[in-house]
Amino acid sequence: MKKLFIKTYGCQMNVYDSARMADLLAPLGYAPSDAAADADMVILNTCHIREKAAEKVYSELGRLKALKKEKDGMLIAVAGCVAQAEGAEIVRRAPQVDMVVGPQSYHRLPEMIALVTRQAGHALETDFPALEKFDSIPVDLSHSGASAFLTVQEGCDKFCTFCVVPYTRGAELSRPVAQVADEARRLVEKGAREITLLGQNVNAFNGVGPDGKQWSLAKLIAHLVAIEGLARIRYMTSHPRDMGDDLIAAHGEIPELMPFLHLPVQSGSDSILAAMNRQHTARDYLDLVARIRESRPDIALSSDFIVGFPGETDADFEATMALITEVGYAQSYSFKYSPRPGTPAASLKQIPESVKDARLARLQKLLLSQQDAFNRAAESRILPVLFEKPGREKGQGIGRSPYLHPVHVAGAERLIGQIRDVKIQTMTANSLRGVLAEGAAL
Ligand code: SAH
Ligand code: SF4
Ligand code: F3S
Repeated sequence: MKKLFIKTYGCQMNVYDSARMADLLAPLGYAPSDAAADADMVILNTCHIREKAAEKVYSELGRLKALKKEKDGMLIAVAGCVAQAEGAEIVRRAPQVDMVVGPQSYHRLPEMIALVTRQAGHALETDFPALEKFDSIPVDLSHSGASAFLTVQEGCDKFCTFCVVPYTRGAELSRPVAQVADEARRLVEKGAREITLLGQNVNAFNGVGPDGKQWSLAKLIAHLVAIEGLARIRYMTSHPRDMGDDLIAAHGEIPELMPFLHLPVQSGSDSILAAMNRQHTARDYLDLVARIRESRPDIALSSDFIVGFPGETDADFEATMALITEVGYAQSYSFKYSPRPGTPAASLKQIPESVKDARLARLQKLLLSQQDAFNRAAESRILPVLFEKPGREKGQGIGRSPYLHPVHVAGAERLIGQIRDVKIQTMTANSLRGVLAEGAAL
């Protein structure tokens, strides 16, 4: 048996793709391994979203170069968004790399392996054959666990002026409903109780349904919850402009649709939102949040924020702080703007790094205080928890509440794959601790 080590960077779509690459290479005799040192093949599944993410790849490739010298015949592949964006550059800068494969082409890996092992050289594959990969990959979902990812939509047509995704992942495309439902059914058969539907713009889903018509994400969700054994459904990432009325209504109508929504706004300033090409105002977003809360009053919200976008003034930044205060987030991700080659905003006049640092610190402090308040509000409540994995302490189980809080419970390791009521007792930095509620026998 040969060993395969995959290192995954970036978003959940890459996590999903890494699992599929492992499935694809299993019939070729590659078994998963936890370390590059004993691997016969290493795949770096990369992310190009910010400069730091892309740089990490080259430093990792430096380490792998040394390893490859010791280990004859070791293969190195670079997959994902850096492969797509700078494939030729990788081959030039890192000749130890045998294969470069873009996010839509990794079903070609077996041919590429055959090619490079037959004749020394590099193989580079960064075409965009529309959704072909989903037809070509034998999906063995045995390692997916109690909570599984399922990619239903890929790519982006929005072209926010800061973002590389439309270039690395290509145009928005949705998988057919029947294909998604079939994969969901198999995930549930393998033990998944929760499925998170993934897409760069997942709420723009418009896959062809069994009736030949285009189905919305809300319709897809209503269809999937009929699968027996599927207890929870989530989706990410959503764009505010694609939050359809039926999807908003679904949050109030479908109990399996969990009350947590990642709805990135990026900025609270209208002029920055316009410069980012987000195509909505801060007021539009706040109104949308109000409508979503009307449908599902207890919904927890999260967002992504960028500080220091070119042209961001103090007043623009304060508008973002005001929006955060008005919404009240359960958790959020925030980043300093990172100019990406080839994107429109990269050629604008940049904000000094020190200003970005100061703004990010203030923004994160506010977000953290909201996260703490959100977690504290769960203390002494009883919440249903889906146990997903063992914790660090012996016998401990870690799961998630409907609101995505990580919950640690002593003695719950044996409940992995099950949903139990947990009485929340205390809050730690990023998680909650609780005990099984009365009546929820071990
Ligand atoms: N499709 C999602 C976002 C995908 S990228 C959406 O539209 O919201 C994930 C996050 O990375 C973005 O929400 C944004 O906050 C951040 N990001 C993207 N490009 C960036 C850049 N050039 N600099 C800093 N952060 C960036
Ligand atoms: Fe990037 Fe904007 Fe598309 Fe999100 S919507 S992936 S931020 S271009
Ligand atoms: Fe990164 Fe590509 Fe995802 S750039 S965030 S891995 S779509």
